[in-house]
Amino acid sequence: MKKQNETPRGMTFRLKANLNCSSSLSGTESEIKVFVDACNTDLLKRGAPQGCGANILPQWQVSDENFEMEIDSDRFVRAHDALLRFNKEFSKVIGKHHIGIRGVELEDYKITLEWSDEDWFKNEQLAKLQKLPFVKSITQSKKEGGKMLLELDLDIDESALYKRIPDRLIRLLEDKRDAVRWKGKSEHWELLFESDKKPFHFDKDPTEEMLKRDWLRHAAGRGQYIYGPQITKIFRALEKILLDELCTPLGYNEMIFPKFVAWDVWKRSGHAKGIYPEAYYVCTPKTRDPEYWEDVMDYFKVTNEVPVDMIMGKIENVGGMCYAQCPPFWVFLQGKILPDEILPIMVYDRSGTSHRYESGGLHGIERLDEFHRVEILWMGTKQQVIDHAKLLQEQYRHIFNDILDIEWREAWVTPWFMAQEGKAGLAELKEAGTIDYEAVLPYSGKWLEFQNVSVNGDKYPTGFSVKLQSGEDLWSGCSGVGLERWAAVFLAQKGLDADKWPEKFRSIVGELPEVFRFL
Ligand code: SER
Ligand code: ZN
Repeated sequence: MKKQNETPRGMTFRLKANLNCSSSLSGTESEIKVFVDACNTDLLKRGAPQGCGANILPQWQVSDENFEMEIDSDRFVRAHDALLRFNKEFSKVIGKHHIGIRGVELEDYKITLEWSDEDWFKNEQLAKLQKLPFVKSITQSKKEGGKMLLELDLDIDESALYKRIPDRLIRLLEDKRDAVRWKGKSEHWELLFESDKKPFHFDKDPTEEMLKRDWLRHAAGRGQYIYGPQITKIFRALEKILLDELCTPLGYNEMIFPKFVAWDVWKRSGHAKGIYPEAYYVCTPKTRDPEYWEDVMDYFKVTNEVPVDMIMGKIENVGGMCYAQCPPFWVFLQGKILPDEILPIMVYDRSGTSHRYESGGLHGIERLDEFHRVEILWMGTKQQVIDHAKLLQEQYRHIFNDILDIEWREAWVTPWFMAQEGKAGLAELKEAGTIDYEAVLPYSGKWLEFQNVSVNGDKYPTGFSVKLQSGEDLWSGCSGVGLERWAAVFLAQKGLDADKWPEKFRSIVGELPEVFRFL
């Protein structure tokens, strides 16, 4: 998806490169001169507005096997892109003499970015920026209305250019600037719909009450519960309502998505940009040879303590536990072309848990490290995806009004796919974006987000290279229904006693089983 608030800014690039060739270039100078002139008038200007683009400076030189030059450019043909263009054509010129390019050394790369002085990084942040990969130095200059000066590390080789590292560094600085601008401003939140007021039959915290009644117990892990037969039956009833009233009538099919997420998925989904403070990390043993692990086993047998530090040296991180639920689905379609006539496609997954390190925010079954969610996912053309989101909204309203009888509201918020990449701030997207569903908890008076409906644009199909036969953009959307959140909202408003529940819901749940008693 294109960045919406990108404003064109002045940038300059100056790159010194040395092309090391397979044999001496002497004798080819006049041909090279003709080629360099052609570069400066045509090749390095292509695609740029009149008078813009890149230039090879006149002091280029040939010495034995080396061709040395400096490229100067604006933002239209960035110097590193110019170098790649140059190399491709230069290879052809010297190829006629059976000479090839053996290696490209980047000797010096300086970039200046126009930067308004309101956006200066504080000294502390500037010090951190010096440690960025491939950065030799980043400084701020007040000259000429304010500039950010980047000097890249000379270790950067040609492959870094193919990986677009200079562009990513620039983007990162701009993102950090935007983050500073947004700091203090609250996240985007815009009311879209508010239900009628509803009767509340309870004013306590439902988790506390369920603990008292032995409906659930805190598990051994942080933010994790073991759900007893009664609350489990309620979860299954909520799930049944979702399937019967929404998934089945709207033509959904069930799938099973992986619950361990490999890094490659999060690289493509964007989560690799920001998930680190909240991930549950997954590691595998460096080897399954029992001998390699003997010292750990022995340590435990002697001390009855698990030697976590010893284990850390013997394992390897390979990814994390399910966090957003839909990203690993996309590997199913990765690199594929779909015929348009099978669209729209609607699938859901309810095959397992999601995990988030919630830190200080844990609270009852409302905020957990381990939770259960039905993830609803649809894809189609842009129009199909937007239309389907409206159908979902209608079905949800029906469920909340006619079956659960809860008081809730819908708000347009920062899209989850931006928030999870660590981007806060304004939701400037109009067609793609997230609607959060919130319900009031009478015991605290606070509103709890209990599900969302999102149009994700072409983000996922693009990230996982999925295309349509017609060449039209493939779009997708998703909606996460947290079973704990639905239950928390319903029970907080209606209480734990079935005789106060709306008739329809009570008949779907049936009798609550009484299985355990404690002495
Ligand atoms: N994948 C979306 C999210 O994580 C919906 O569940 O919010
Ligand atoms: Zn999703």
